[in-house]
Amino acid sequence: MLDWDDPFAAPAVKEETDESAANDAPNVANVTGVPIDTASAPAMSLPQANIAPVNPDDKRVINGMTDINQLAPFKYPWAWTYFLNANKNHWTPLDINMAQDVHDYRHKLTLEERHVYENVLSYLTTSDILAMRNIGLAVMEKMSAPELQIYQARQVYEEALHTWTYQHCIETIGLDQSEIYNRYRVVPEINQKIQLANNRLNSIMRSDIDLTDPDELENFVMAYAFFAAIFEGCWFYNGFSPIFALQRRGLMKGTSEQLQYIMRDEVMHASFGIRVVKQIIKEENLVLDPAKIQAMFEEAEEAEKIYASYILRDPILGYSKEDHLGQFRFIANRRAKQLGFEEPFPGVEAALPWLDEQANMKKEKNFFETKVTEYQTGGALNWD
Ligand SMILES: [Fe+2]
Ligand SMILES: [Fe+2]
Repeated sequence: MLDWDDPFAAPAVKEETDESAANDAPNVANVTGVPIDTASAPAMSLPQANIAPVNPDDKRVINGMTDINQLAPFKYPWAWTYFLNANKNHWTPLDINMAQDVHDYRHKLTLEERHVYENVLSYLTTSDILAMRNIGLAVMEKMSAPELQIYQARQVYEEALHTWTYQHCIETIGLDQSEIYNRYRVVPEINQKIQLANNRLNSIMRSDIDLTDPDELENFVMAYAFFAAIFEGCWFYNGFSPIFALQRRGLMKGTSEQLQYIMRDEVMHASFGIRVVKQIIKEENLVLDPAKIQAMFEEAEEAEKIYASYILRDPILGYSKEDHLGQFRFIANRRAKQLGFEEPFPGVEAALPWLDEQANMKKEKNFFETKVTEYQTGGALNWD
């Protein structure tokens, strides 16, 4: 049995002795575990008692002055709802059977399909590290309303869970880990996408950014918009689709199921981030330049084109680089509209009309009862 006092210790049978029985007596200890002599401890100076509760109207997404430690009343109840919904999508990669994937990879995938599978995983696993660092290290600390940070804290955990999921897939399939994890550094077509994100992230990875400065504010909001609308909202969404194309042919179904769970999270991350960005724009009276938004989507499209030309240099059955890029443009239009801007690629049709349906699990396994049940929160989650 796990010893919660020392989780790495070997289980030991505790012998009941006079000494241990004596130690069962209640004891007062401080956080370091050192007993406190309550008789001689000095009287505590208590905090001031008559401090008015936070007025939710005073809260702001950034640059707020209200007590960050008082959760409610909420000014942004939707953020709390995101947190509650996020907790309905819980799984671990160990819950999904990968045995058939091992067989498929070794005996059924073509060389071109293996190339796609490996490089998609290589890109995704690096991306999720960036996503985690962005929200946890650069964004969260800039928020001044705790209900926003609560969801973002959950998001940090989910990005770590996604990284575990890719690691589980890579390890289970038996890929060379040092080679797969290093690939984003040696394949320029993958690296250039990571560098675009890294540049945005590095520009806001400072705790001394003054968000009352208009230039700093614009840069922060553009970086957050990039991560929510493009990095998570397009590149992750679209990033899974080559594997879903295999799943449609009955291949790599375990990996695909893992990605379906991740996709649920990512769609919520994108949606939440876009909502936060729009709220900042409103509260700070910020006017983003539509030309800069257009340029951001076009730069992402160019990066996606280069990426697709590598991972799909040879098309696989039912999926080509043209499909991949067409779907990117279609999803990019959706995200730009959600941000409140014109479509960057007007008139584009869905290149993969099956993708929304494929990505949306109608059922979920109830892992605790080992039976398939209806996914109860499907109606609460907007897959746009
Ligand atoms: Fe993620
Ligand atoms: Fe994410």
